[in-house]
Amino acid sequence: MRKKVTIVGAGATGGTMAQILLEKGYCDVVLLDIIEGLPQGKALDLSHAAPIVGSDGRVIGSNDWKDTADSDVVVLTSGLPRKPGMSREDLVNTNAGIVREVAQKATHHSPDAIIVQFANPMDAMCMVAKQATGLPRNRIVGQGGMLDSTRYRTFLSWELGVSVKDVDAYVLGGHTDVTMVPIVSHAFVGGVPLRQLLPQERIEAVVDRTRKAGTEIVGLLGTSAWYSPAWATMEMVEAILLDRKRILPCSVYLEGEYGIRDTFVGVLARLGAGGVEKVIEVELEPEEAAGLQKAAEAVRELVGLVKA
Ligand code: 2OP
Repeated sequence: MRKKVTIVGAGATGGTMAQILLEKGYCDVVLLDIIEGLPQGKALDLSHAAPIVGSDGRVIGSNDWKDTADSDVVVLTSGLPRKPGMSREDLVNTNAGIVREVAQKATHHSPDAIIVQFANPMDAMCMVAKQATGLPRNRIVGQGGMLDSTRYRTFLSWELGVSVKDVDAYVLGGHTDVTMVPIVSHAFVGGVPLRQLLPQERIEAVVDRTRKAGTEIVGLLGTSAWYSPAWATMEMVEAILLDRKRILPCSVYLEGEYGIRDTFVGVLARLGAGGVEKVIEVELEPEEAAGLQKAAEAVRELVGLVKA
């Protein structure tokens, strides 16, 4: 039997995620939304492309949670996106109410599913989902680090004039402009440490653009990005569905790793059929380690602002 993925929220992001999964072809997709016609229309449109894509994956659009039953993975995209001038953190209370409700419904209909949290402020919303469902930490993972890392790798490849394939770098910390921690100490290009290839001030410029990349797009489009966020999330979903044991940057509930406890923050984790199977603790430079601590603190503070 093919695996089943539910995507909650059929907006630009959810629709793009369904498109990517259709192209992958290894699972069926349920696109769910409260707006009538929207998920059905997008699903039908995508389905019409299946013979061209050569995909046997089914895409179904629905307004009914019953259709999501027994999904292997549920991706929660529903929530408001940013508008110009807004930070991801500004969305906290509006989106907390939505996330609480959809996380509960998702686990009710798919009691064994791994939940992938997408809507912002993502790290805090992971905590809201965890509190609402009581799921163990392996079953809720947040997307943020994957996106920030792919942006970091893109900018590094442009800066160095090399293939994106040869840039191996990642971002930890929070999924916000100020709390993300683009890691320089473990960034490699074709196996060569980044610092041997790029002067410090150029590295700093890339790090700065990475931090503000989401905001740069909100400034251009008037709303949040969706193509690269969708690809980043589907990389995590694939690791889980195909039990690939990928080591990916994502938001995880820490239980003492890096001396951090009881909060979500971006770290490297092994994703496989069991969801978050392991947190990979790496030796960070003092400034990077301090950045991670500050990020965890910021998530705690934000969660403290969530009204019950
Ligand atoms: C971003 O563009 C969607 O959080 C998202 O960074």
